[in-house]
Amino acid sequence: MKHKSTIALISASILASSAFATTYSLPMAMVAAEQAVNAGKFEAGNSTFLLNGEPFVVKAAELHYPRIPKPYWDQRIKLCKALGMNTICLYTFWNSHEPVEDQFDFSGQNDLREFIKLCKENDMKVILRPGPYVCAEWEMGGLPWWLLKKKDIKLRENDSYFLERVDKFQKAVADQVGDLTIANGGPIIMVQVENEYGSYGQDKEYVGNIRDMLRKNFGDEVTLFQCDWSSNFQLNGLDDLIWTMNFGTGANIDQQFAKLKELRPESPLMCSEFWSGWFDKWGANHETRPAADMIEGIDEMLSKGISFSLYMTHGGTNWGHWAGANSPGYAPDVTSYDYDAPISESGQTTPKYWDLRKTLAKYYEGKKLPAVPKTIKPIAVNKFKFTEVAPLFTNLPVSKKDENIKTMEEYNQGFGSILYRTSLPELKNGGVLSVNDAHDFAQVFVDGKYIGKLDRRNGEKEITLPSCKKGSQLDILVEAMGRINFGRAIKDFKGITNNVTVQEDRDGHKFVCDLKNWEVFNLEDTPEFYDSMEFFPIEKFTASENGRLPIGVYKGTFNVGKPSDTFLSFESWGKGLVYVNGHGIGRIWEIGPQQTLYMPGCWLKKGENEIMVFDIVGPREAVSEGLKTPLLDNLQVQKPLTHRLEGETLDLSGLKPVLTGEFTSGNGWQEKKLDMPASGRYLCFEAVDAIDGKDNAAIAEFYVLDENGERLSREPWIVDYADSEDVKSGNRSADKLFDLQESTYWSTIPGDAFPHSFVIDLGGNKKISAIQYLPRMESDVPGAIKNFRVFVSPTPFKK
Ligand code: GLA
Repeated sequence: MKHKSTIALISASILASSAFATTYSLPMAMVAAEQAVNAGKFEAGNSTFLLNGEPFVVKAAELHYPRIPKPYWDQRIKLCKALGMNTICLYTFWNSHEPVEDQFDFSGQNDLREFIKLCKENDMKVILRPGPYVCAEWEMGGLPWWLLKKKDIKLRENDSYFLERVDKFQKAVADQVGDLTIANGGPIIMVQVENEYGSYGQDKEYVGNIRDMLRKNFGDEVTLFQCDWSSNFQLNGLDDLIWTMNFGTGANIDQQFAKLKELRPESPLMCSEFWSGWFDKWGANHETRPAADMIEGIDEMLSKGISFSLYMTHGGTNWGHWAGANSPGYAPDVTSYDYDAPISESGQTTPKYWDLRKTLAKYYEGKKLPAVPKTIKPIAVNKFKFTEVAPLFTNLPVSKKDENIKTMEEYNQGFGSILYRTSLPELKNGGVLSVNDAHDFAQVFVDGKYIGKLDRRNGEKEITLPSCKKGSQLDILVEAMGRINFGRAIKDFKGITNNVTVQEDRDGHKFVCDLKNWEVFNLEDTPEFYDSMEFFPIEKFTASENGRLPIGVYKGTFNVGKPSDTFLSFESWGKGLVYVNGHGIGRIWEIGPQQTLYMPGCWLKKGENEIMVFDIVGPREAVSEGLKTPLLDNLQVQKPLTHRLEGETLDLSGLKPVLTGEFTSGNGWQEKKLDMPASGRYLCFEAVDAIDGKDNAAIAEFYVLDENGERLSREPWIVDYADSEDVKSGNRSADKLFDLQESTYWSTIPGDAFPHSFVIDLGGNKKISAIQYLPRMESDVPGAIKNFRVFVSPTPFKK
């Protein structure tokens, strides 16, 4: 199928694209002619997609090129093809393409054009998802941190500066790959407009603006779509775009498409993100999802002609400081983005891969699937010792003076750590230091002595200071982890975001001092900065009383005979960032669950390789070794993952519920209203029994409505109590009730007897008029609750 306007369009896009003209030197007439010959069309037909007029079921494998070492791109695409997929679905991460305002980078790992051309060479179609926001467990959901230098910016809204920057980025992307759309003979069949906007807000005008930018850059013929959840896609669904649904394995597929079918009976159906697994967070259980659920779901979709993209088919790695964080609360993601996907982080085929391949083979039009390419054989690297260390506190860079504390962004720093130093007033009886707020991991020192830490994940803001003389030196070392990539909290400033006070009790009076006159040391995360420090032989240092070597940068070398992939172990280290031969291979943190970092062989050299670790806590032993298999499931946390302390119970006897009710069976949201609004800070939900009569209660999402029927913000919510939480078979603790993810859920331990209750501290006294409850997504709705009671109280319920 040819397009009348193809040649004119190509010429216009080539002329408009200076990047294309300078970078790619094929004679333009030849390019245009070749593309015109191959030009095709992809569109929504009646209940099916049409590729050049023929029905086409999209079987897409989600891969993110920056998460895969470039020399392995081709092999990973071939692995997807050999699975039986026909399309590669990919995000572009704005912040890796424009790390500094107006300085675009589409080279090396960022070579989007090369990646898409590889897809084409492998006869794979491409779905492009250029954001600007992508979520993806990537720093700030792909938005560049420097946007935050404009402190009052409104992200993902009609903010003129935001839109101006998005426009430039979208134009830069189109300059690279605008000529690779199907209308131009390229592999790109569809382009996504924004990403799951329904879980951020309701603003059709903004979404419309992003659509218009894409049309302007990719031409009117480009097929555009929006992806969202079945529960919220109507909020922002634009009439002229294709609508697709995102949901996880195990979900009731018919129910996920029910609303769409009702509104648009002729729309082709596509699950644009079918979650094969899930991502890991520091300090939580390693996530896995059963292969059987994934296979069953894909089989069902294909038997019904439903298109899908398997998110992730191969997850890869959050190199360097690129891992994001989840919210509400603050839950930073680990370095590995293995995702329990069919192709492992290091490109190995897993049992899930082979099972899936068997299923996809059934839908390969009677043809034989392509052969599975060879995978890389990982090697072991002998245990080696680091040889040099540059202690941080004797290697501080030139400082800045500032009366008031400022965020990292205000000092033009995007990543790494920041040290704030000032002097303390006299504290005769000691005091309480309040850091409002430290993003994300602060360590407090007085006159060089370590006092303690404040971990944002646990909402820690206060620390007790010992008595000290006037003028004692206060140091607060703050490490920034990934910026939040989900929900409203993506506007996530780093360093100290507001102020620091010290409070002392003097003769029964509280004396509060807002600390001023700071000296600020910016410790930017770059290998050049670490390398510029003064290093000493490691033997000069011994572990201090806490068993740790100094905070600082550690250097060493290790030898490799024949370079291949390996997994470097950091089990004896504290917390920090690792560089090998100049490649940032990721963050480490002793709490796990990830204890090794994937070290691609393509970035190793035969013979000596250089390694550098910035450990902000200090290692217990400065050694490492390369393992043949990764350690992604070794959690080392002291604090339990559950919310009920040993022996704690809840006594509701004599209390009058503000709401008693019964839920109906089936999937989907249910709302129950109170007769009259009630007030309280603590809300206790008691599940009395289950629809299936079994001893198990589960809730995917839970909201509370205020007196105007609006959803209360769940940002300040804290789980105060939960009688039973299944953290053995997965992360099913009660905070999953309000983690904004419909595919994760709170579940009691199967077999624990009813009733089951949880208590939420709403963060302040609130008027409550109704609750909204979403049971699990599976068609048999495990743990669906029948009878329930709700109590509210100004004070905690616990005894
Ligand atoms: C959503 C987002 C993705 C990713 C997944 C969870 O669907 O669109 O970018 O964050 O959740 O992995």
